[in-house]
Order: sequence, then structure tokens, then C-alpha cells
Amino acid sequence: MKILLVCLGNICRSPLAEGILRKKLEQSGIIVEVDSAGTSGWHTGEPPHAGSISVASINGIDISGQRSRQILSSDLKEFDLILAMDSSNYQDIKRLDHENQYSDKIKLILNYVYPNENRAVPDPYYHDNFDEVYELLEMAAQKIVEEIRNNL
Ligand code: 4NP
Repeated sequence: MKILLVCLGNICRSPLAEGILRKKLEQSGIIVEVDSAGTSGWHTGEPPHAGSISVASINGIDISGQRSRQILSSDLKEFDLILAMDSSNYQDIKRLDHENQYSDKIKLILNYVYPNENRAVPDPYYHDNFDEVYELLEMAAQKIVEEIRNNL
């Protein structure tokens, strides 16, 4: 199984989500590939934002080796689950699904915590709320791992 986490810049939210989810899956002994990408290519090749690296590090997760990349149309075929941080990311991903073949695997990540509410992970690039974002992503990652475990 392969999971892709997606935000706008792939420097704040999705790198953090990738790090948290990868650690939880490893701790659970579940073999899943995890990656992240941005809908924009604005930060391609850059490491995560210092705020994301810092909050991850405080929680025992090293995301400093990640590098930003832009999502590709081929990712829609390649990954089994594509998780967007907000509805704008969600719409941008759906736009890459020209023939509307992959809509079942494109989801909003916080719907794992707040089903059907379509809540957004707030963007710490603008709000500097890295701690709040960490907590939200931690809750979502926990639910995702439970769901995968229940379906194994
Ligand atoms: P992210 O945050 O989508 O969580 O990585 C952002 C990063 C960069 C920008 C916006 C949001 N930007 O405008 O460059």
C-alpha cells in the first residue's frame, strides 16, 4: 500500500503528516509506503519549514531530510490513498484526475478525525501554529493507522 499526503507547498503540513504517519506505521509494524507532495511547485527541492522540522523534532521525528516536490498526474495511479490538507488542495488534486477515475482514493485528511465535516488543517505558513497542526495531524495519523489495521 502507498499513501500520499498533499498540501500546497509541501514544506509545512504534508511533510509533517508524512513524518508522523510513517513513524506510527513503523511502530505498528504495518508495511506502507508514505510520501508527500505539494499541489504547487513553488518550493521544489527545499527542505521542510523550520517550524515543521522543530515541532517534529520535539516529538522525536526527524523530517529534515525530506525535499519538496510537486504532485504529478501519475501519482493518482501510483498511490492507493491521497490525503489532502484542505479543500483547495482537494480540488487541485481532483483537477489532475481528468477522467474522474480516482475520486474514491482522494480524501480530506481531517475527515478521519471529524467524519464528513470537511475540516481543513490550518496552514502554519500563514498562522505560525505549528503545535496545533502537529496535534491535528497526530490525531488523523492515529485514525488512519487504526483503519488500516482493521482492514488488514
Ligand atoms: P504548506 O504551506 O502548503 O503547508 O506547505 C505553505 C507553504 C508555502 C506557501 C503557502 C503555504 N507559499 O505561499 O509559498
